[in-house]
Amino acid sequence: MSTRHDLAAPTPLDIRLRETQEAFDSVAADYDGPRGNNELIQRMRHTLWATVREELPAGSRLLDLGCGTGIDAVEFARSRFQVTASDWSPRMVERARDRAEAAGVASRMQAVHVGVQELDRIEGEFDGIYSNFGPLNCAPDLREVAAQCARLVRPGGTLVFSVMGRICPWEVAHYAARGRFRRALVRGARGVTPVGMNRHTIWTYYYMPREFYAAFAEHFALSQYRALSLFLPPPYMVDRVRRRPGFYDRLGRMDDRLGKLPLLRDMGDHFLIVMHRR
Ligand SMILES: C[S@@+](CC[C@H](N)C(=O)[O-])C[C@H]1O[C@@H](n2cnc3c(N)ncnc32)[C@H](O)[C@@H]1O
Repeated sequence: MSTRHDLAAPTPLDIRLRETQEAFDSVAADYDGPRGNNELIQRMRHTLWATVREELPAGSRLLDLGCGTGIDAVEFARSRFQVTASDWSPRMVERARDRAEAAGVASRMQAVHVGVQELDRIEGEFDGIYSNFGPLNCAPDLREVAAQCARLVRPGGTLVFSVMGRICPWEVAHYAARGRFRRALVRGARGVTPVGMNRHTIWTYYYMPREFYAAFAEHFALSQYRALSLFLPPPYMVDRVRRRPGFYDRLGRMDDRLGKLPLLRDMGDHFLIVMHRR
């Protein structure tokens, strides 16, 4: 993989981006399984799908930032959207391409190896841009991402992002109960922080919804945001949910009903935020 800094010594940022890339490359092969697509993830995924469909008619041109194995991109291509799916992990991009071929939607979905830190490499105009499950938590410069989104999306166009938030009560309780206090509080970190996955490191930035929106405010008006998986636990606790499905089903309905309320919408495993190009 070549980067712009081929000839120069890698900067700390280059190294962090490379480590994050290696982390996701290492899980790409099984990312559609329990790790990347269990029932708690699917529940949040369906909320993003419904939101994109409420905002944009079929046939719209969509850009997916951090597409992973292409589950969302193929879903939208099947529903006749035109999708450009991008990701920083070459293995994820390969998987997304294969998925599009297998689903017979390659004419409506292209997958490109582009990181969110290099969106200037993407040309064209889009009606909407979405990003699901935290790729934007890996963006080293969110204001630059916002400026690139403003370049790429038409006036009045839509952004729909799901982003890892700072306040996840389940996570604090889960790790604190195991004596892993530093991990319990990792989302409170200022700036970039290392998070382990599969013996690799994902360099991660956490946000409150308003803190996230501030980076986009110059170009985009805030339409709404809501909590995802606040009453339900984060996806890595899926075993607990499987043991008591009825109870957790009720918690899921509380997420649906209450996740948009003030204060509650500032918490949860992720938040879903919708913005419109000014
Ligand atoms: C948690 S996965 C979510 C994947 C997909 N959106 C989904 O819903 O299944 C995060 C994705 O962000 C990608 N990613 C990480 N850093 C990135 C970056 N700098 N630019 C673009 N994508 C990045 C990873 O390769 C991975 O595919």
